[in-house]
Amino acid sequence: MSKEIIVKNPATGEIVKEVKINSEEEINEAIKQGHDSFKKWSKVNAHERSRLLSNWSRIIQEHKEEIAEMMTLENGKPLSESRGEVDYATSYIDWYAEEAKRIYGRTVPASTETKRIIVSKQPIGLVAAITPWNFPAAMMTRKAAPALAAGCPFIVKPAVETPLTTMRLVELAHEAGIPTDVIQYVNGSGSVVGRIFTSSEYIRKITFTGSTPVGKQLIKESAETVKHVTMELGGHAPLIVAEDADLDFAIKQTMATKFRNAGQTCVCANRIIVHENIADAFSKKLAEEASKLKVGNGFDQDTQVGPIINEKGFSKIVAQIEDAIEKGAEVLAGNQYKADKEAGYFFIHPTVLINVNLDMVIMQEETFGPVAPIITFKTLEEAVEIANNTPFGLAAYFFTNNYKTGTYLHDHLDYGIIGWNDGAPSGAHIPFGGMKESGLGREGGVEGIEPYLETKYLSVGNL
Ligand code: SIN
Repeated sequence: MSKEIIVKNPATGEIVKEVKINSEEEINEAIKQGHDSFKKWSKVNAHERSRLLSNWSRIIQEHKEEIAEMMTLENGKPLSESRGEVDYATSYIDWYAEEAKRIYGRTVPASTETKRIIVSKQPIGLVAAITPWNFPAAMMTRKAAPALAAGCPFIVKPAVETPLTTMRLVELAHEAGIPTDVIQYVNGSGSVVGRIFTSSEYIRKITFTGSTPVGKQLIKESAETVKHVTMELGGHAPLIVAEDADLDFAIKQTMATKFRNAGQTCVCANRIIVHENIADAFSKKLAEEASKLKVGNGFDQDTQVGPIINEKGFSKIVAQIEDAIEKGAEVLAGNQYKADKEAGYFFIHPTVLINVNLDMVIMQEETFGPVAPIITFKTLEEAVEIANNTPFGLAAYFFTNNYKTGTYLHDHLDYGIIGWNDGAPSGAHIPFGGMKESGLGREGGVEGIEPYLETKYLSVGNL
């Protein structure tokens, strides 16, 4: 069995670095150290934890260019997006540096004069995170920052495709003064490390961003020791364009949500559901804009769409496009590839499909790629039916200037995140998370620190 993870540049297939895979013994030792640090870290006062987090954020910003370049090298995303992700990553640290100081309890009026009731919060213990390759910095800090702010030690296993960014962020946390046993990383395959994490009695919480099948497995395994779980799983976001929508604005926002990170995000619009009276105009314009996007190496200054992460991701996207075409879809833009299996790079040009129907795989499964399938609707009820017809419930978008239409869609869409005339609803200050098989719990906002806290209630009697 290989002892190294080979990190490759997805834009060229070239080897970037070889990273040591940690043995089971080493991972258990890291877990033990994390566990032992809990006593000390949970007693560090909230203002000091906040100060250390702010230091971490500042130091990351001082290394912004280095980290952005590392991210483009291992993930492929355009350098401008990597720079944006460094800011997005530190925004979580900044937010939770503040929230650390607002972990309040409360007093509850007692039912007799002789009692006092006090409710307090305490950190849950050691947290283990498994993070994805699509946002190697922000998905790590979105978990680490609230854990550390709450007083929990943190151990992360980054995706095998993109461990370097995470490893560097952990080093910078140590430089910032966060103790080396309080934040750690380990490397290895998801299934091996995941099992070590879930079976450890020392770990009190598993937080995971990734696919729904892996999330289900982690939930099952975590049940053995009744761990807390936060699961940010797959999505299949609908984007509804009502008849009255401002078309130019809707197209601009659709472009932003659909083609960010080459369509490799959980919240990417995956099914575009357009009123039949405007579908022609919308589709043509979207195809025109999609064709203008520059696809290439993320280090080229004018690149807007980088490579697909690997062959597996590429084959899935191509299979969905081919299935759609076979079942009657028409290609308005894209369906062009620059791929070399030997070398190990895979690019897909932004693709727009029309004449799409519900039998196509692309309407049933997450694509994780730059493909925009357009289906039409007549009535709002029909649009909602199409939108909700999935086990997923992460993000949904709709475009309308009519408040009744907007209110109806908001009330009826079964999604945790909804953008009304907004294709970019993410942020450190909002509760990010999904309904149904898209996950459990929320990350970000005031809600995002709660999953790292236990509620303890004290009843004082005989007063
Ligand atoms: C994701 O794709 O999981 C995260 C996207 C975001 O935070 O906007």
